[in-house]
Amino acid sequence: MTSMNPTTFDLFADTDPEQQPRIERIGEQSCVLRGFALPWLDRLLPALEAVLAAAPFRQMVTPGGFTMSVALSSCGTWGWTTDRSGYRYTRNDPQTGQPWPPMPEVFFQLAQAAALEAGFRAFEPDSCLINRYIPGAKMSLHQDKDEKSYAAPIVSVSLGLPAMFLFGGFVRSEKSQRVPLLHGDIVVWGGVDRLRYHGVLPIKDGQHPRMGEQRINFTFRTAR
Ligand code: SIN
Ligand code: FE2
Repeated sequence: MTSMNPTTFDLFADTDPEQQPRIERIGEQSCVLRGFALPWLDRLLPALEAVLAAAPFRQMVTPGGFTMSVALSSCGTWGWTTDRSGYRYTRNDPQTGQPWPPMPEVFFQLAQAAALEAGFRAFEPDSCLINRYIPGAKMSLHQDKDEKSYAAPIVSVSLGLPAMFLFGGFVRSEKSQRVPLLHGDIVVWGGVDRLRYHGVLPIKDGQHPRMGEQRINFTFRTAR
């Protein structure tokens, strides 16, 4: 909806991305960059396909013995993995025994541009976790704390079906903000907010015109 007149303005103010502020602050050093990834998609999606051809999505098991509803892959020097013995970053994909696919240049550039837009200079991610959610899949509240240092922010890109992102405090029991995320949105959190709990509510049924029946999330981090 691009044309506005006085009678439709109020009605569409909540749904037209052009009526939303581009940067929404959700914490002292955290924000959502609305639609930031959209202009990158034509370069991002072919690169994603190539990564997934080399390192297909797979469901991993947590140390507690639960199979995650989200399927995972990774690219970059370090890939995040979990199995019965714990969480860790590895250089090789345990499924293929090969190094994780290198991070495509366009992934790195997007992550760096988003970090800069959010106020974090010289972000150098060495890991990109790729999460695939089908309807019903969710991610429980957790902290990203397997990285060697917390100096670098987290840059988290949403594609496909909408999600309700939970952005909490520094203890699990603290009440979370609910942040709706749409195709192309990027969340960045770092600095004093780096260790905030976060998660994703179960994805609702739906078909995304470009991505189909799924939500894909890229989580960029500096692991080492
Ligand atoms: C994550 O915390 O690894 C994923 C967050 C998301 O899917 O938005
Ligand atoms: Fe996370």
